[in-house]
Amino acid sequence: MNRMTANQLRRAWLDFFEERGHTAVPSSGLIPHHPTAPLFTNAGMNQFVPYFLGEETPPYRRAASVQKCVRTGDIEIVGTTTRHLTFFEMLGNFSFGDYFKEGAIKLAWELSTEVLGFDGDRIWATVYLDDDEAEEIWHHTIGLPAERVQRLGEADNFWEMQKGQPGPCGPNTELYYDRGPEYGPEGGPANGGEERYLEFWNLVFMQYNRQPDGSLTDLPSRNVDTGAGFDRNLALLQGVDTVFETDVLRPLLACAERLTGHRYASDERADVSLRIMADHARTITFLVSDGVFPSNEGRGYVLRRIIRRAVRHAYLLGVEGLVAPDLVDTTVEVMGEAYPELVKNQGFVRDVVVHEEERFRRTLEQGTTILDAQLDQLGEGDVLPGSVAFVLHDTHGFPLELTQEIAAERGVTVDEEGFAAEMAEQRRRAKEARKAEGADELAERFSELLEQFGPTEFTGREEYESKARVLAVLDDADGAVSIVLDRTPFYAEAGGQVGDTGTIVSETGRAEVFDTVYGAPGLVRHRARVVEGKLDPGQEVTASIDGDRRDAIRRNHTATHLLHWALREVLGDHVKQQGSLVAPDRLRFDFSHYEALSAEEIARVEDLVNREVLANHPVRHYETTREHAEQVGAIAFFGEKYGDIVRVLEAGPHSTELCGGTHVRALGDIGPIKIVSEGSIGSNIRRIEAISGFGPIDRLRREEACINRAAQLLGVAADDLVEAVERRVAEVKALRDELKALKRQAATGRAGELAATAVDGIVVARVDGLDRDAVRDLALAVRDQPGIRGVVLGSAPEGGGVAMVSAVRPDSGLHASELIAEAARTIKGGAGKHAELAVAGGKDPSALDAALAQVRAAAGLPTVP
Ligand code: SER
Repeated sequence: MNRMTANQLRRAWLDFFEERGHTAVPSSGLIPHHPTAPLFTNAGMNQFVPYFLGEETPPYRRAASVQKCVRTGDIEIVGTTTRHLTFFEMLGNFSFGDYFKEGAIKLAWELSTEVLGFDGDRIWATVYLDDDEAEEIWHHTIGLPAERVQRLGEADNFWEMQKGQPGPCGPNTELYYDRGPEYGPEGGPANGGEERYLEFWNLVFMQYNRQPDGSLTDLPSRNVDTGAGFDRNLALLQGVDTVFETDVLRPLLACAERLTGHRYASDERADVSLRIMADHARTITFLVSDGVFPSNEGRGYVLRRIIRRAVRHAYLLGVEGLVAPDLVDTTVEVMGEAYPELVKNQGFVRDVVVHEEERFRRTLEQGTTILDAQLDQLGEGDVLPGSVAFVLHDTHGFPLELTQEIAAERGVTVDEEGFAAEMAEQRRRAKEARKAEGADELAERFSELLEQFGPTEFTGREEYESKARVLAVLDDADGAVSIVLDRTPFYAEAGGQVGDTGTIVSETGRAEVFDTVYGAPGLVRHRARVVEGKLDPGQEVTASIDGDRRDAIRRNHTATHLLHWALREVLGDHVKQQGSLVAPDRLRFDFSHYEALSAEEIARVEDLVNREVLANHPVRHYETTREHAEQVGAIAFFGEKYGDIVRVLEAGPHSTELCGGTHVRALGDIGPIKIVSEGSIGSNIRRIEAISGFGPIDRLRREEACINRAAQLLGVAADDLVEAVERRVAEVKALRDELKALKRQAATGRAGELAATAVDGIVVARVDGLDRDAVRDLALAVRDQPGIRGVVLGSAPEGGGVAMVSAVRPDSGLHASELIAEAARTIKGGAGKHAELAVAGGKDPSALDAALAQVRAAAGLPTVP
């Protein structure tokens, strides 16, 4: 075995092949270009696909390379093993219609045994099922004993870029190195011995082209594509057990150790996280350097997930600071000599990754706070509802796996089915919404308009009516139209504030706007009905909003900010906005808090905000940089996207928040503020609704009318209402008591009559019209008459059904439920089992007489009274 450093191995590889007529070709980028290519460059051969397919003529017949690769297909496993990586390098040599099987195998053998110094007696080979030719070469030309050449199927010995997808492919032969009995039982790679027999080189005989229908056709020439996992080979050469201990990955692991304070190989759980950090550091650095940006789709999304996964594992190990700078810098240190582009892009890569980490950390902290509060209410063995995991995921970008990991630390599992159901429901809703609005097509039109004309100028902070030009009038699916103007006073729904309504009038027509939303970011979409004539693109129009409505909205919006501040004053800083709705007639504010607000707390909040209003402090609403906004301590609503220039709203001396809505000019403009409801909308999330401006006055008036009407009904002055109601309540109670006593008396009288019909001390009688409770009371009264041992009464109450009650004296020798057991079945009901009092309810009144006859028989009485 020839000990080599990473740089020495790369050099030795290229030298060997250059000496044998190959052109050393630099690694291509990680974003591949050929139509058949996977998302990321996943093999040395990617850049040569046009040569294999005969689409381009190769400038050389033989090539060799050290290629950077990313494979994320098994990312879930990465970290849990010591073999899997998302970033790796692949050493390769290639023949384009030049040497084929024999040439490739001979070169591989020579390099393995002579340059790398592998012991030929420990090399094994596998060939594709029917590849007699390759087996022959191994056996006769190379001299490998027959038992060290094994045959394997498609999964192992047939290679294609993406399984089953179009592109060049072919059978392969793989070289394995026997690491010795200490790594596992003998038997070769074909017998599952992957730990002991380490695959270190794959030679593909590229001779087929997989067609879109799945069939194979011959390529114009027979080619060779070989790939040797660089990290594995390095581990073998450096005599270490795993790829994580080479001079490439060990420094990255050390960096992860430094950042987390955990030593590798002391705790298996921590090791997983450390390996993930070490592996992902390279993937992240290389991807960003090659031009991939974190985003929500395609490559960017994969990158985002990888960054988040690395950060999450650092977070799990308790890291509070940023990890991105060190991980990126260490990667550049270790890999920069072989990949100089990393050194060039280092600052930029660091910025991009740090920005993404900061974003995700905020998510993590926010989500953790919410999750912890939820978990505090659960105990070991409990299940966290899927809906909670969903809200964390949906609103806070908190991944399900993280929720699961944190929950697991407290012995709590997550209802995955519930989570999946919520996700499915959300997808369904989104689809419906899109369908309902014919949204996909429209969305595209709006994006085009945005591209063509830029964002709509918003004039609605200064004026309620503006002259504007029509840019487009689009038909909506529901018969309405969407009007796009170059400038508009209409506020488009955002930040909880509803969209404006109003009119758009041109020389030829008039439209009534019933809602205003964004068609694309920055492009205002007026949803309207054309009520007169028509409006055409290019026309001058007057766009006017409903000013009273907007004024009411403004008052409620600024009131929302004051309430947010006052809630924090009264309840504490844990109060955080979770959502809001600002409409003309009311405002709604959702916030984190753990218990219902008391009447006293509500009053204090109301007093605080109204005091601010009465002080008539000025309101300042201005644009500034995000940095400045942070300096002045503006509260940002998490989940909103803010650009580099933000609007800050200072609502009086205490409330400073980022807000793009519309607001009053001074707090006095708001008028009175009144909270009208308070409740829970999820655990630890409260919702208040409030009104302002004319709202409280209207409400006061309605309540006044209500009081006056009630006073009138009671025939008293409004001021005496409470006293009068108290008197009435006492009166009603006295009357009820009296009525009850009378009923009892009447019942007792009837009990005497019934007792007189007793035979042998037993009364069996039908008492129709009484409900079950009345029958029961009567039965007990009969039972207590002198000389009575037991009584069974049956009734067909007015409401339907049958009630039967059996009551006996303790010393009577009778059994209450046995007396009516059979009868209960006859009336199609069931009876209680009690010995002294049994009540049966049934469904069939027509059977009541027969049932009572059965009771008499059971009691040994004549069956007819
Ligand atoms: N393309 C083959 C592989 O990736 C050989 O280079 O394994």
